[in-house]
Amino acid sequence: MPEYTLRIRRYDPQSGEAAHWDDHQVEMEGHVSVLEAILRVKNEQDGSIGIRCSCRAAICGSCGVRINGKPGLACNTHLEDAAKRPTKKTATGEDTVIEVEPMGNMPVIRDLIVDMDAVHWKKIQRVTPWLINKEPIPEREYIVPHENMVDVTQTMACIQCGACVSDCLSMEVDPLFVGPAALAKSYRFVGDPRDAEQYERLHDLSEDEHGIYDCTHCFNCVDACPKDVAPMDQIMRLRRVAGSDQKIEDRNNGQRHEKAFVKNIERNGLLHEADLLTDSYGGKFHPRAMPELLGSLPVAAKGMTRGKMPLKGALLHPHKASPEVKQIFKQVESRPDRYELNLYVVGYEDEEESSATPAATPTESESA
Ligand code: FES
Repeated sequence: MPEYTLRIRRYDPQSGEAAHWDDHQVEMEGHVSVLEAILRVKNEQDGSIGIRCSCRAAICGSCGVRINGKPGLACNTHLEDAAKRPTKKTATGEDTVIEVEPMGNMPVIRDLIVDMDAVHWKKIQRVTPWLINKEPIPEREYIVPHENMVDVTQTMACIQCGACVSDCLSMEVDPLFVGPAALAKSYRFVGDPRDAEQYERLHDLSEDEHGIYDCTHCFNCVDACPKDVAPMDQIMRLRRVAGSDQKIEDRNNGQRHEKAFVKNIERNGLLHEADLLTDSYGGKFHPRAMPELLGSLPVAAKGMTRGKMPLKGALLHPHKASPEVKQIFKQVESRPDRYELNLYVVGYEDEEESSATPAATPTESESA
């Protein structure tokens, strides 16, 4: 039977001692989960190890940890798969060493247990995580169009394990960011036609400087999620519904930046970065742009002295968009309104039985 070294990060904030790693040897089959190995060590070698778990079946979301640097569920990760990942110390897989540490972006209560209340649940509460009924309430059940349920099913798969929060780079820089889990939860109700407050929800998020435009598309949440919820995709859907459908202007400058970027390419064919900054703040002469422009002068001066940004290039842009680029824009803009569905659940309906349940086959999320 293969032997693994289970390297567990130990930390008790109340002890006043620094965190350290403890190594334990376990002899177990490679298909056994990391959680089972931790529980074996806890039962047989060191009962003081702090770990949170319940279902042991990837349903309750309570055993979220980082295993060899990657967040996930300990009960859903096989020892042999975990050991193949590079560890922090070796940067390559040692094939037998499995480092287990608490999730990131949340304070540690003890060893592998993090304070989900302090971060994760607080942010979930922030987005009003329940359905607000439309009035009048029908006497019988609401009939929801099939496409709408398909659209929100992906977010409904979330088990609130916090893996996406653990590795969110934006949250690391800005702890006030609403975050991937809460925003995915928000889309669950924004995309539900039974909810009476789609506009209010989106407006509320758009008024928050740490809202939907704080996401930097790092894809970490997509990689981390053990249930393929792809929180970043849900954030992009929130942006689309808020900006394109509801015409809500976001307080965060990201929305203006996105528009300025598109306009810049349409005008110049190639990106003219000197214009991008001012356009993102409403144009060269907009009062909002002036402080930003002044603030960027030291960086611009540095770029010029180091030859990275010639003065002529900064002031004049030699490129004009070619007819081909203009044609692409024309073609895209002349299309009818885009209708996007989150096709997480796909399947084929029997033509005669249109009410048949679709096959629940999780796939990569797609756009149609
Ligand atoms: Fe429930 Fe792992 S113990 S998800």
